[in-house]
Amino acid sequence: MADLTGKLGLIVGVANKRSISWAIAQAAAAAGARIALTYPSERLEENVRELAAKLDNPIVMPCDVTSDQQIADLAATLDREFGGLDFLLHGAAFAPAADLNNPTVQTSREGFRIALDVSVYSLIALSRAVAPLMEKRGGGSILTLTYLGSQRVLPNYNVMGVAKAALEASVRYLASDLGPQNIRVNAISAGPIKTLAAAGISGFSNILQIYRERTPLRRNVDLTEVADAATFLLGPASRAVTGEILMVDAGFHAVGI
Ligand SMILES: NC(=O)c1ccc[n+]([C@@H]2O[C@H](COP(=O)([O-])OP(=O)(O)OC[C@H]3O[C@@H](n4cnc5c(N)ncnc54)[C@H](O)[C@@H]3O)[C@@H](O)[C@H]2O)c1
Repeated sequence: MADLTGKLGLIVGVANKRSISWAIAQAAAAAGARIALTYPSERLEENVRELAAKLDNPIVMPCDVTSDQQIADLAATLDREFGGLDFLLHGAAFAPAADLNNPTVQTSREGFRIALDVSVYSLIALSRAVAPLMEKRGGGSILTLTYLGSQRVLPNYNVMGVAKAALEASVRYLASDLGPQNIRVNAISAGPIKTLAAAGISGFSNILQIYRERTPLRRNVDLTEVADAATFLLGPASRAVTGEILMVDAGFHAVGI
């Protein structure tokens, strides 16, 4: 297990107990970190507060990642409450249902804008906001969550595949920008897991079945496996790793057919 004793972390992207970000929050807390969680809207506030109550001394704050003001307020609160930050987990993603399920050639201009804003620009904006807090701690680790649909065509992923390709490119550029401040930027490319976001992808059960049949490990991954890889990338054990997309997918990416 990674050791995050005394670390201060921000986790963006918890919707409910099935969220990958919640699994990472729990694993990071178990490894010794103090955690700040965000909720994007009043609708999800209660969910997030209920989950946060299971953590030791958490901070809970609003943050709709499409709002520059809310991101600035979040950074100011973290500065006041934590006085710095060691890691950021970015697990926010969204695309309108029609643009997710329609053929890519039918993607609307607005659907494209929303998907890229929520799922990609948010990483850039949040990284910029927390970098000064990480500098106060001598550096930090930023981690986001991606999927193989960035590199390969997968059914009903469409505009989100385009967004994930942009997200992964952003990881590399941000890693280059922030490396001199000892801030690392990485992504985990997770295998499919049944979550709220996954429920928006038609035929998801079929994808799970194909993974079970074809991955080298002949199974799917679970939340705790992604969370264990995440605590490695968020903590000092990965201190020389940056600009990396780590596949946590039971090996699916390695096979042809
Ligand atoms: N579930 C999978 O199979 C899978 C696989 C690989 C990667 N991922 C990625 O993991 C990440 C987390 O997704 P998940 O599967 O845990 O689902 P999830 O629905 O639990 O998490 C997505 C989160 O994005 C948040 N979000 C959406 N719009 C937002 C906004 N405007 N401001 C702030 N937050 C916003 C939602 O509130 C939610 O908490 C996503 O980036 C997803 O693409 C998921």
